Amino acid sequence: MSGGAQTNLPNPGRDSGLSGEGPAIVVRNLSKRYGDLVVLENLSFELERGKVYVIMGPSGCGKSTLLRHLIGAETPDNGEVLIDGVDMHSNDRKVRDEARRKFGVLFQSAALLNGLTVAENVALPIQRHTDLPKSTIDLMVKLKLELVGMGSAADKYPYEISGGMKKRAGLARAIALDPAIVFYDEPSAGLDPVMIGVIDKLIMDLTNKLGITAVVITHEMPSIFRIADEVMMLFGGRFAFRGTPQQLRNSTDPLVRQFINGDPEGPINAPRQLAELSDKLLGGSRRGQTAQGAGA
Ligand SMILES: Nc1ncnc2c1ncn2[C@@H]1O[C@H](COP(=O)(O)OP(=O)(O)OP(=O)(O)O)[C@@H](O)[C@H]1O
Ligand SMILES: [Mg+2]
Repeated sequence: MSGGAQTNLPNPGRDSGLSGEGPAIVVRNLSKRYGDLVVLENLSFELERGKVYVIMGPSGCGKSTLLRHLIGAETPDNGEVLIDGVDMHSNDRKVRDEARRKFGVLFQSAALLNGLTVAENVALPIQRHTDLPKSTIDLMVKLKLELVGMGSAADKYPYEISGGMKKRAGLARAIALDPAIVFYDEPSAGLDPVMIGVIDKLIMDLTNKLGITAVVITHEMPSIFRIADEVMMLFGGRFAFRGTPQQLRNSTDPLVRQFINGDPEGPINAPRQLAELSDKLLGGSRRGQTAQGAGA
């Protein structure tokens, strides 16, 4: 399947997104620890609507943990997350449901149900959250699949399509209810460079043409430089860097430089077990390492 995603369709849901005032996401004093491990340490930030934000950082630094807190899938030890002003961790279930309607999530695995066709997978959230008649749902599904260049694969089952197509089907499902925000957990993982480019273009089109705020967790440096309005690097429970891709490129911070260059030596430790295994197998003498990332 070629990567010709068609994204020039009218926006079906421009009016159903955020209320139009204030930031898309506000995080205040967010903290989370697992036992002795502090993963998120008093994080406070605001994300404006209609921009692409990239969250990057070494493995185990807490990116997925942060994402789970943003979407209300996990309860913080302290602090709050407001999506369009609505508290994601409110005790009132109705309030949480209201907030949940405002965003879609593209999970790393795409998380499609194997027993359903692509179209049926995309229809699922619409059936679950609305009382719309089947003919309307069919139309919405068709539109979303066209939007991600998957119109011709509507009746295929997930096991019949490639990894890149699965991601696009997952994206169609994430935007099924016309969310104002889409969270992407490693949307490029396991894809070839051309398909990564296709997904990047979709993310940018959804933001630039439909005004969707994108929060993207990714390690792909070319993607980061291509899509990000702002890059946030999580390390040691806090943001070690926040800035534009250009500022990222010009940063002299050793942490940032090591990450960008993929240097195994530096302030970001590779997991100790890996280094020890490498010493054992290759017989090298590892240099002393003291600094630790949150999860290293
Ligand atoms: N439910 C949990 N219970 C205990 N520890 C956890 C839990 N979830 C995450 N952790 C720990 O918190 C740290 C951050 O994990 P997280 O999955 O957020 O990292 P990540 O930045 O997404 O890493 P990766 O890039 O490898 O996906 C890790 O050390 C992980 O082992
Ligand atoms: Mg993760």
